[in-house]
Amino acid sequence: MFDKDHFIQDCINGIAGGQAAIREIVEKAVSNRERLMDGLGEPKHAGITPLYRSHDLTILNFVWAPYMSLMPHNHLMFSVIGIYYGREDNIFWRRTENAIEAVGAKSLGTGGLAILDRDIIHSVTNPIGKMTCAIHVYGGDFFEPDEPRSEWDHETLIERPWDINKVKSIFHEAEARFNAIKK
Ligand SMILES: [Fe+2]
Repeated sequence: MFDKDHFIQDCINGIAGGQAAIREIVEKAVSNRERLMDGLGEPKHAGITPLYRSHDLTILNFVWAPYMSLMPHNHLMFSVIGIYYGREDNIFWRRTENAIEAVGAKSLGTGGLAILDRDIIHSVTNPIGKMTCAIHVYGGDFFEPDEPRSEWDHETLIERPWDINKVKSIFHEAEARFNAIKK
C-alpha cells in the first residue's frame, strides 16, 4: 500500500535535489495507481487537499470535479504533476502584449506526469464525467508564493491577481453542478 508519510518524507529529503529528484519520487508513486488510491482514499469531494506545506515544498492532492475547468494561471515555482486516476487536459499559454495566447497542450491520463517549470502558464480541464485525481508537488509554498501569482480571465484572457479562495470555490461549484445534473 502507498505510505503517505513515507512519500512526504521522500519529497522532503528530495527537494534539495530539485525538480529532477521530485519527478522520480512522483513517477514512482503514480506508477501503481491502485496503491495510491488505497493510500489516499477514494475521493468523496472535489478540491485541493494539502498533504504537506512548507516554505520550499507543497504537496497537494488534487481532485478535479467532472468536466470542470480552471482558468489560466501561473505558479512562479516548479511543479511535478502525477495523475493516478482520470485525465487532466492542460493548455499552455504565453504572454502577449495585452493578454496571453495558447501555445501547446498536454493531455495526461492515469500514470501520466507533467514537469512544469516555474514560469509556466497553464489552464486545466477534466474532460471526463468522473473525478480526476492527481498528486501535485510544488517547489515552494503554493498558498503563499514569494511573488504574487496571476490568473487570467478564461473569457477575456486578461491578467488579474490569483485568488486561492476563488480557485477553491470553482472546485466546489463544479462538483455541485455535476451533482445537480445527476439527479
Ligand atoms: Fe496549476
